[in-house]
Amino acid sequence: MNEESSLTWLLSRRSIRSFKDQAIPRETLNNLIVAATSAPSNTNRQPWRFAVVSSREMRAKLVDAVRTRANHIKEIIHRGHHAEDFGNYGDFFYEPLLTAATIIIPQYRNYPDLIANFLASGGVDPKQFHTASAMQAELCSTSAAAMVLLLQAHASGLGACWMAGPMVARDDICGLLNISPPWNMVGAIALGYPADPPPAQKPRKPVDHVVQWFD
Ligand SMILES: Cc1cc2nc3c(=O)[nH]c(=O)nc-3n(C[C@H](O)[C@H](O)[C@H](O)COP(=O)(O)O)c2cc1C
Repeated sequence: MNEESSLTWLLSRRSIRSFKDQAIPRETLNNLIVAATSAPSNTNRQPWRFAVVSSREMRAKLVDAVRTRANHIKEIIHRGHHAEDFGNYGDFFYEPLLTAATIIIPQYRNYPDLIANFLASGGVDPKQFHTASAMQAELCSTSAAAMVLLLQAHASGLGACWMAGPMVARDDICGLLNISPPWNMVGAIALGYPADPPPAQKPRKPVDHVVQWFD
């Protein structure tokens, strides 16, 4: 792979939301996790963990939990002044989960802020300083891992959609999958073999709108 072919391939990734009824082999799932854990992390903490849910029964429970919470939110919003704006937005929270062959719940945990502790031991208030914790380094590392997982999925012929929507049912999902502190759920990734050809690329802001060059 070279600069050009890599870019072409990266640009061919899409979020996929509808999947065939076809299980993903364990080896392929395992490779997704190997890829994810190759991501960089703050001081190589590897502050991540992944619940990989292929059981049909458990997937159905996860979908039900998200759909119930999303519908509840939808009902409340429809009583207010934003019914039209919200529309069927809540469906976007769980639809990709409906046909997913596997659902992955990435999780991260925070670690004590060592620099802050050193500063405190030196007799100053650590709040007077910015440290790595200001960028939520463990969450960033786990997001990087999720992104590598999406790319490995793409390379394996899988479709994937990383979703924030299922966070509406965070408590239910954490209960079902035994996710408890210090672990925090970072959305859900719907995975499976795509049911349809990939959609066109969603428009992107032009490079000049998102970069500040300091030559
Ligand atoms: C953090 C995050 C949260 C997202 N949440 C959802 C979601 O809840 N439901 C959904 O269908 N897609 C979700 N997406 C997918 C985005 O809609 C998608 O990435 C975006 O529209 C660009 O399309 P593309 O991934 O095909 O390039 C999410 C993506 C990210 C990175």
